[in-house]
Amino acid sequence: MIDLQLTDKKHDEERQGEALIVDAPLVRNGRKLYIESYGCQMNFADSEIVASILLDQGFETTGDYKEADVVFINTCSIRENAEQRVRNRLSQFGVEKRRNPKLIVGVLGCMAERLKSKFLEEEKLVDVVVGPDAYRELPQLLSEVESGHKAINVLLSREETYADISPVRLNGNGITAFISIMRGCDNMCSFCVVPFTRGRERSRDPHSIMAEAQDLFDRGYKEVTLLGQNVDSYKWKGTDVEESAEIEVNFAQLLEKVALISPELRIRFSTSHPKDITDEVLYTIAKHDNICNYIHLPVQSGSSRVLELMNRTYTREWYINRIDAIRNIIPDCAISSDIIAGFCTETEEEHQETLSIMDYVKYDFAFTFSYSERPGTLAARKFEDDIPEEVKKRRLSEILLKQQETSLYRLQQFVGKTVRILVEGTSKKSDKDFCGRNDQNAMVVFPATEGVTAGQYVNVHVDRCTSATLLGTVVVEEPEIV
Ligand code: SAH
Ligand code: SF4
Ligand code: F3S
Repeated sequence: MIDLQLTDKKHDEERQGEALIVDAPLVRNGRKLYIESYGCQMNFADSEIVASILLDQGFETTGDYKEADVVFINTCSIRENAEQRVRNRLSQFGVEKRRNPKLIVGVLGCMAERLKSKFLEEEKLVDVVVGPDAYRELPQLLSEVESGHKAINVLLSREETYADISPVRLNGNGITAFISIMRGCDNMCSFCVVPFTRGRERSRDPHSIMAEAQDLFDRGYKEVTLLGQNVDSYKWKGTDVEESAEIEVNFAQLLEKVALISPELRIRFSTSHPKDITDEVLYTIAKHDNICNYIHLPVQSGSSRVLELMNRTYTREWYINRIDAIRNIIPDCAISSDIIAGFCTETEEEHQETLSIMDYVKYDFAFTFSYSERPGTLAARKFEDDIPEEVKKRRLSEILLKQQETSLYRLQQFVGKTVRILVEGTSKKSDKDFCGRNDQNAMVVFPATEGVTAGQYVNVHVDRCTSATLLGTVVVEEPEIV
């Protein structure tokens, strides 16, 4: 069984320190790269770009930092505890570096961008600091380090999308993959560090997105997740390769293009923004069976006053209107959320409004956080972080409890029914069990069954559930499918 990742520490948005390895192709230089990633899916996707750049230089990857020549840590700044984890890990790499002074330690990603050269001053063992838009420079930066200097490049770009770099799929299951469709964020939510660490929003050209999706499908992948901080504002203008005409592609159109690659390829996407998600996107999801009925639509708070302070640019009523539109257009759509407890000046009544919007939506799933002030953000400059830690904690636990109840309620709706799932492989807890997700993104675990392999779509009868997982058995005949 897979735990529902509801706590502040364990959640997908901020995955922790996974080492990424890949089988090495062609001509090698005998040097080994170890790369460990923290934070959101975008960061994990970026690590695959970084690995691709270094593999082109002849590196191979290793899953053991003790045998590496270069150790990269791709970092996250979203909350203070995310940064703390990276610092703890760096001190472990420091022990290794004292044993092997030739080891190069590099800090990549959002913390690199936020702290810039301060990182080199604060963490003496770090040799190279590289921001998210400067990965093409990695080979040159590594040469600088080899010639005895510290190296840094934290320039942000208005154009870089790494469109032409084919990511190497690290540690993948060979079935599901992420595709970055845009970078940066122009929204300036007052609590959020991302616009500062990732720069301005830019969309990647649709031809390279389609080519990447097609290539994955040709190689046996069955599910792609289109990634961006705010996918609904995807917009690309340029020349259509086939017709040499000027075209404009929005997110709904991009979704449709990717969906048309094959009905056997499932499409997911993250993250949608309540102010930007259009009915056109919802109708596109409804129209194509292979676009999954699942929308991650972070609410952050249920109070219009707090939402205004957060600079989210929508109200409680607007958000509820978007939920109603989803329910009308895609009746069986799963919806998940991100929720922040204890934002500056949040009152008890406003916290209750968050709980009541959760009651209204009955989220299938939610990532929940207590507010963590980030230096340089609008909120840090304008408001006092005035909610005491114990109050934040208590509010967060009330939110968590509510979410556990609604997650269980949502999963119970599948019990006794048959769901179609894409088999991802063996379950994390037992190799006698397989796991996969249904259309609504619920994890389904079932006993390994003869003839069933990863990458297949199978029907599973759901026998029971926990608040995190559906448990069932494969059905051979064709029953009614939900
Ligand atoms: N682009 C996405 C979210 C990116 S960050 C969106 O707009 O929804 C993922 C989540 O981290 C956010 O949705 C928010 O809930 C949380 N988060 C961001 N900054 C935070 C902070 N300073 N303290 C606590 N949680 C934060
Ligand atoms: Fe941060 Fe808001 Fe942008 Fe999301 S939309 S990345 S929360 S600024
Ligand atoms: Fe973290 Fe940067 Fe993602 S701050 S959540 S890794 S965009």
